[in-house]
Amino acid sequence: MSAYKIAAVPGDGIGVEVIAAGVEVLQALSKKSGFELDFKHFDWNSDNYLKNGYYIPEGGLEELKTFDAIFFGAVGALNVPDHISLWGLRLPICQGFDQYANVRPARVLPGVKSPLLNGDQIDWVVVRENSEGEYSGNGGRVHRGLPEEVATEVSVFTRAGVERIHRFAFELAQSRPRKHLTMVTKSNAQRHGMVLWDEIFYEVAKDFPDVKIDKELVDAVTTRMVLKPSTLDVIVATNLHADILSDLAAALSGSLGIAPTANLNPSRKFPSMFEPIHGSAFDITGKGVANPIATFWTAAMMLEHLGEAAAAKQLMSAIEAVTESGLHTPDLGGNATTRQITEAIIALINR
Ligand code: IPM
Ligand code: MG
Repeated sequence: MSAYKIAAVPGDGIGVEVIAAGVEVLQALSKKSGFELDFKHFDWNSDNYLKNGYYIPEGGLEELKTFDAIFFGAVGALNVPDHISLWGLRLPICQGFDQYANVRPARVLPGVKSPLLNGDQIDWVVVRENSEGEYSGNGGRVHRGLPEEVATEVSVFTRAGVERIHRFAFELAQSRPRKHLTMVTKSNAQRHGMVLWDEIFYEVAKDFPDVKIDKELVDAVTTRMVLKPSTLDVIVATNLHADILSDLAAALSGSLGIAPTANLNPSRKFPSMFEPIHGSAFDITGKGVANPIATFWTAAMMLEHLGEAAAAKQLMSAIEAVTESGLHTPDLGGNATTRQITEAIIALINR
């Protein structure tokens, strides 16, 4: 029987609530499906940062490397600047484990209402470059507080980094029925890094003659997402562009509370990390109403990555049955609790 070691890092805010729900659901699934999941919990979060001065203790990343996957909640707290929490916990894992492909599917689940009239046409995967670009942390500040203060934030695009994300996106597009890949850029205004991004896209395209391609400027693609959702399938974009587009995709799919993500290290040299994209959501923390669906969908992506495709499919069917039944948390206009949704999913798994 296969056994997988999973590192659970609930983090902050509703991350704690949804990861607890996710672990419960995954355990129910593993009992049914004939594989083992061995969870270890890591209390790396902002409260402990404020006590200890660090998010990840010494040797923490080394330990994390020994796991098959990381199941992550959210990081971010009201009393820690966001750039500190992000660079203290999430980015050291994404960047340290070379999780360069961030995959963000968007689909309107049954029973969920999209704000778009033709929202049922949404079936996208946003592929986000996750290791460089605008998130390279490359820059500095001088003359602090003076009128001549200067800050730079320099995007970095490397041939290796750009080529591997395009290749990943092509392979993903090739595996989907429509085999369509839209490359998002801003090479009209940004004439160095973005032009390299475009050039390498067309080089890689030669290896995938069966994939239909097109190119869209990042501003223009937002209108296409809203007005002509059916014309998009897989979308590849830079770190920042895809960050923005994936929030739009989540909102158009009905709620940020259902959107999942996988931070993949495709070479499998390091574990990949799976997380809901909603963040810590302090406004609803502790109320028991966080939507666990994003985490469950995320868990399905994790199972898929681990090679447990049948269990992933079973979990997705349970998720869809529950959303279709109208049992919805407040973000979807209902009044169900995290607990009720979790129990409904587990009941379907155990059926
Ligand atoms: C995301 C989030 C993060 C990001 C934040 C929390 C820094 O918005 O995963 O999309 O921009 O990467
Ligand atoms: Mg984001």
